[in-house]
Amino acid sequence: MKIYTDIEQLREAIRHTKRPLGIVPTMGYLHKGHLELIRHSKNENESLVVTIFVNPTQFGPDEDFRRYPKKIDQDINLLEKIGVDFVFIPDSESIYNKSHETWVTVEQLSTKLEGQFRPNHFKGVTTIVLKLLNITTPDNAYFGQKDAQQVKIIQQMVRDLNLPVVIKSIPTVREHDGLAFSSRNIYLSRDERKSANEIYKGLIIGKELFKNGTISSKEIKESVTKHILSGIKNSKIDYISIASDDTFEEINVIKDSALLSIAIHLGKTRLIDNIILEQK
Ligand code: PAJ
Repeated sequence: MKIYTDIEQLREAIRHTKRPLGIVPTMGYLHKGHLELIRHSKNENESLVVTIFVNPTQFGPDEDFRRYPKKIDQDINLLEKIGVDFVFIPDSESIYNKSHETWVTVEQLSTKLEGQFRPNHFKGVTTIVLKLLNITTPDNAYFGQKDAQQVKIIQQMVRDLNLPVVIKSIPTVREHDGLAFSSRNIYLSRDERKSANEIYKGLIIGKELFKNGTISSKEIKESVTKHILSGIKNSKIDYISIASDDTFEEINVIKDSALLSIAIHLGKTRLIDNIILEQK
């Protein structure tokens, strides 16, 4: 496994690597969700690059950029064990030099759901992902369904800009009690962590209601909200949404399928999760 901090050195190494090449972009503090993306990428490619970069431009001014968890040595050991070919750990200055002024925005999709609460978040995400794709020129890129809106926006960017890469979406990996793995789970106090599984339970309640014939989004959202507010003390819901999993427009009456998604604060920690409502 080779570790690179320098863009040109990584490019040179990738020029000589076996194809297809897979990329798994991350912000580090790796967990089983990341590892599942890496597993898929290993299975489907001859070479694999994992990037670790806490991208400052996707954090809002009052968000957790400065305290975002880091364990770079542990991450590197893990990646070494798994057998990743390249790890790219750039510093902020080499990614965004002083004169940086180009941004990529997927206009409509970025304004929905997370976009309403994190106004410049996706502009930062699409810009860094495009840069990472340009630097590494992968054939396949792996993202998690846990961030459903992020994957969709990246797929849209790839289509719109004719990028020669396939974007793969990997199902959410969960802890035993259903809480989605997230680097931010480390922020939770013991009590918060105990009740955090009610988020997934709420999503399951929504899914079951739909399966059993409830097609009114309002009814489903009310039940999910009630469950979550009664199960998690000290919580503040940003949104519980039932939307098209294509456009993220809110849906009132669900036909075939929809995306049920949640963003919630547990004390100082903001978590997101989602599930697809479908008849299956
Ligand atoms: P990060 O939060 O580190 O996540 C890296 C990738 O892992 C993302 O594609 C995310 O959706 C996926 N992931 C996170 N938790 C997961 C889980 N429980 N199950 C499956 N996949 C999971 O997302 C980012 O970083 C950044 O926005 C990034 C794309 C790297 C751009 O900076």
